[in-house]
Amino acid sequence: MNALTRDSNAWHLVGSIDDIPSQGARCVENGETKIAVFRTADDRIFALEDKCPHKNGPLSQGIVHGGCVTCPLHNWVISLETGAATGADEGRTASFPVRLDGRDIYLNLEQGA
Ligand code: FES
Repeated sequence: MNALTRDSNAWHLVGSIDDIPSQGARCVENGETKIAVFRTADDRIFALEDKCPHKNGPLSQGIVHGGCVTCPLHNWVISLETGAATGADEGRTASFPVRLDGRDIYLNLEQGA
């Protein structure tokens, strides 16, 4: 996937669902921010900043299972929907709204939080 360019439209086409392996992720860059776009086993798409809320581990390199990703560094489990750590761990990474139009993936960068 390519770097993003900002325009007046909040939704940005970032690629096709077919660019992302099932239970995997691909990264896109928005200025200084790296965003990991995840695909679940049942073809849902989520986008989180590629930074674990624990110690900034690369979530894009984690294991996707159900609606979560396990961080490759210390195994925190992060909700793909909210970016929040699950279980006893606390913290949250930014999440971005995603829309699928056919096989095309659009990210909303303005509503990311
Ligand atoms: S950096 Fe992700 S669990 Fe520690």
